[in-house]
Amino acid sequence: MSRIISASLCALFVFAIGSTDASAANAAAGKAVYDASCVTCHKTGLMGAPKLGDKAAWAPRIKKGNAVLVSNATKGFKGAVGMMPPKGGNAKLTDVQIADAVAYMIK
Ligand code: HEC
Repeated sequence: MSRIISASLCALFVFAIGSTDASAANAAAGKAVYDASCVTCHKTGLMGAPKLGDKAAWAPRIKKGNAVLVSNATKGFKGAVGMMPPKGGNAKLTDVQIADAVAYMIK
């Protein structure tokens, strides 16, 4: 519990100073973003998207580092299997929301 609280406080702090330090991304907040904007592809693997909870699909991606994953999710990414649209196609999402959603997806 205290970890969750300190992670939230940390995320708030990062938000307050306008940085998008992904190490403080909030996976709990990211669930709502995922459910609204990422689930279509990342639940079923549509278009080759790595599925939520598919450790084998995520392992090589996680090795690239969180900053790369967040950047690719924000700007869009064309990989070996398909096309990840910028911000999952929802341009209204903030960089912090994307970082949170990535944290939720790889946790
Ligand atoms: C229209 C389908 C679609 C939606 C919606 C979508 N994704 Fe993706 N995403 C993909 C596909 C396809 C890939 C795999 C691309 C590849 O590796 O060829 C991918 C890959 C990724 C990766 C791995 C990138 C990498 O460098 O390996 C991340 C992180 C990611 N998506 C995050 C998100 C987040 C966060 C959202 C919601 C805000 C989202 N995606 C919504 C299709 C989608």
